[in-house]
Amino acid sequence: MTGAADRTTGPTVAIAGVGRFGALHARAWAEAGARIVGLVDPDADRLAGTARAHRVERTGTDLAALLDQVRPDIVVVASDEASHAGLAVTALTAGCHVFVEKPLALSAADAWRIADTARAHDRQVVAGHISRFTAQMSRMRAGVERGAVGRLCALRLRRDFSRAWFLSFGDRVDPVWESCVHDIDLAISFARARVRRVMAMRSAAAGDAAPSVVSALLEFDNGVIATVESAWLVPAAGPGTLDDGPLDLDGAIVGEAEVLGLDGILKQRLVSDALVEWTTAGVQVPDLSLWPEEDGLVGGALRREIGYALAVFTGRREPDLMPLEQACWGVEAAEAIVESLRVGAPVQTARR
Ligand SMILES: NC(=O)c1ccc[n+]([C@@H]2O[C@H](COP(=O)([O-])OP(=O)(O)OC[C@H]3O[C@@H](n4cnc5c(N)ncnc54)[C@H](O)[C@@H]3O)[C@@H](O)[C@H]2O)c1
Repeated sequence: MTGAADRTTGPTVAIAGVGRFGALHARAWAEAGARIVGLVDPDADRLAGTARAHRVERTGTDLAALLDQVRPDIVVVASDEASHAGLAVTALTAGCHVFVEKPLALSAADAWRIADTARAHDRQVVAGHISRFTAQMSRMRAGVERGAVGRLCALRLRRDFSRAWFLSFGDRVDPVWESCVHDIDLAISFARARVRRVMAMRSAAAGDAAPSVVSALLEFDNGVIATVESAWLVPAAGPGTLDDGPLDLDGAIVGEAEVLGLDGILKQRLVSDALVEWTTAGVQVPDLSLWPEEDGLVGGALRREIGYALAVFTGRREPDLMPLEQACWGVEAAEAIVESLRVGAPVQTARR
């Protein structure tokens, strides 16, 4: 355990899924002052490793059974994508607030089921759209809100991942749910509107069973349009942005975002070249925005996101930065993109 705060007080947290990102969550929530009281994962080795690192006594393979025993204030869902909705509903039904990693769910019906359950049990849900919480996005959103670009017209968002990740886990769900969901969510956070219609294409040349290269055009209710692009093609010799970071995953996340209005344009690079390291290990361009190690603690957007979630869950803040309704809109749009890829034609989002 690195740099964890005193954990005798603070809200109690159980974590469902302690793989790569769940293990990082355990560390970051502990560092934020939460007490990790239970872990669930079908993988016994991962369970034991994270339990040891954070001195967690209660572990298991079934969330409902664990919640009966430990009754935490908060459940963090960081498991495989297909299990998110079921685990979130189980946790809400047990009276817990829930932080769900992206994607919130793999269908709009499941996303709204989470929202309905949260309302019925008077609990809060924060979806883990980490990119909303980078310092750059926070400044860009503030700029758009105070009118720095005038009337918003269009958004361009792009995110590329290491090719090796696609081969090892990128196809366990359609990659739209892994990479595009971040940018769909950013587009919604700027447009502050619901997506009406999408048209998406994949590159047949990439040749994978699931689409590793996707371009999607989104039309919002208020006339804003957005392009969302993602390619899992960064070669191993490309820039290392996560190597040596606190997440147990080497490789690259690179991307760009542009906000275009009648009076101005804002541009951001997801990974800037502000720090470049030339060493015997090669060229590194370390990401300093998402979850950088800062003086022995997990910092960046992940720390801000968890701080925000804790403030919402303890009633110190309204859920204004990541409203659950907008997370549901994002699932609607992602579902329509996947359908558009399947049928090869524009698709209207399904609304309930
Ligand atoms: N916000 C981000 O930038 C970001 C980054 C990485 C991962 N993620 C998300 O985090 C989640 C986990 O990704 P990962 O890379 O850690 O995957 P992973 O495969 O490393 O870990 C997933 C873990 O969940 C466990 N699991 C599966 N079904 C479960 C269940 N029903 N209950 C409890 N545990 C279960 C698996 O055994 C595994 O240990 C995914 O939804 C992914 O999209 C988000």
